[in-house]
Amino acid sequence: MAKASLRIAVIGGDGIGPEVIDQAIRVADLASQRDGSRLEWHRLPWSSAHYKETGRMVPEGGWDLLRSHDAVLLGAVGRPDVPDTITVNGLLLPMRRKFDQYVNLRPAYLYDGVQSPLRDKAPGSIDLLVYRENTEGEYAPVGGRVYEGMAGEVAIQTAVYTRRGCERIIRAAFQAARKRRKKLTSITKSNALVHGMVLWDEVFQSVARDFPDIEAGSLLVDAAAMDLVRKPESFDVLVASNLFGDILTDLSAMVTGSVGLAASGNINPERVFPSMFEPVHGSAPDIAGKGIANPLAAILSAGLMAEHLGLERTADAIRQAVASVLKAGKPRTPDLGGNARTAEMTEAVLACL
Ligand code: NAD
Ligand code: IPM
Ligand code: MN
Repeated sequence: MAKASLRIAVIGGDGIGPEVIDQAIRVADLASQRDGSRLEWHRLPWSSAHYKETGRMVPEGGWDLLRSHDAVLLGAVGRPDVPDTITVNGLLLPMRRKFDQYVNLRPAYLYDGVQSPLRDKAPGSIDLLVYRENTEGEYAPVGGRVYEGMAGEVAIQTAVYTRRGCERIIRAAFQAARKRRKKLTSITKSNALVHGMVLWDEVFQSVARDFPDIEAGSLLVDAAAMDLVRKPESFDVLVASNLFGDILTDLSAMVTGSVGLAASGNINPERVFPSMFEPVHGSAPDIAGKGIANPLAAILSAGLMAEHLGLERTADAIRQAVASVLKAGKPRTPDLGGNARTAEMTEAVLACL
């Protein structure tokens, strides 16, 4: 049974972040009536603008405040006039680590009515789920720079792969595959990265023994990029390190029509900390303020959040409403080939609900 009232921290962030998150809230409010739950939205102004005013991305006590919520809904951070080392590295990446959100789940589905840039793809023929490691790997903030600005300058960026870190994401992905088409592909690069990725492969093989019912295979990341274009229907669940998962999910978003449709959850499976839900896309400075961003990635992210919070009917209703709007063929924002505005897209979803 879901709680009658759930506290959601909302960080719109920068660029199109607040634009699409406002739409996700409208949809989630209406849909959640089905579960008889009230979503209490606590809007936090944390963003580049807020940083410019206060000198901080996260105010003092901010992490404890976030922690007191049932979940976090986030738009995107990043603005051209503030370095990503401040925005992204002051808020988004520390949140994934501090709240041990080690599962970054990113589904990609070719909806009926959406044109894939790949030829002759039937609706539903691309239906995959990426389990991306979200707390270590290539994103470990380990390394340093010396002799700055000098001819002999050195930058060292160290990737960190732990047995525990590999094992827990791989195990979670096997469990996910068990609930789907029972196929799991591990993304590796152990032909070149002979320490970290060899550990990754060894852990994959050892965890696979606990899942004899799952068809387990391994692909080098470059070949996986090729197959996501050549035969995306061959994938069910993929498990990847932090950076590989990041790159492959922009690709899986595009082959299913647009990054404007790609939702994600940053999950702490043990529920010791709140999980965070956000679209896969960023703040899109090129279209920010124009009112033309596709809100569906954010809306579907709110759907993933509802599912995580036990609001099954809400989650189903959101998914089905989005699917119907896409199937109808209009309205469509420009990323999907139309000229509708962000709010029109939302209103179509609300009408379906
Ligand atoms: P981006 O995802 O913001 O944009 C890439 C392209 O996709 C742009 O052409 C943009 O217009 C388009 N696009 C993205 N979302 C769209 C939507 N909902 N509807 C229609 N079109 C959409 O990636 P970028 O330009 O590389 O990054 C911009 C900033 O966002 C950077 O500062 C980056 O670090 C940051 N970023 C933040 C997050 C996050 O906070 N979760 C994620 C990715 C990037
Ligand atoms: C994403 C983003 C982030 C990532 C950036 C902003 C650091 O691209 O969530 O996909 O690489 O994880
Ligand atoms: Mn990304």
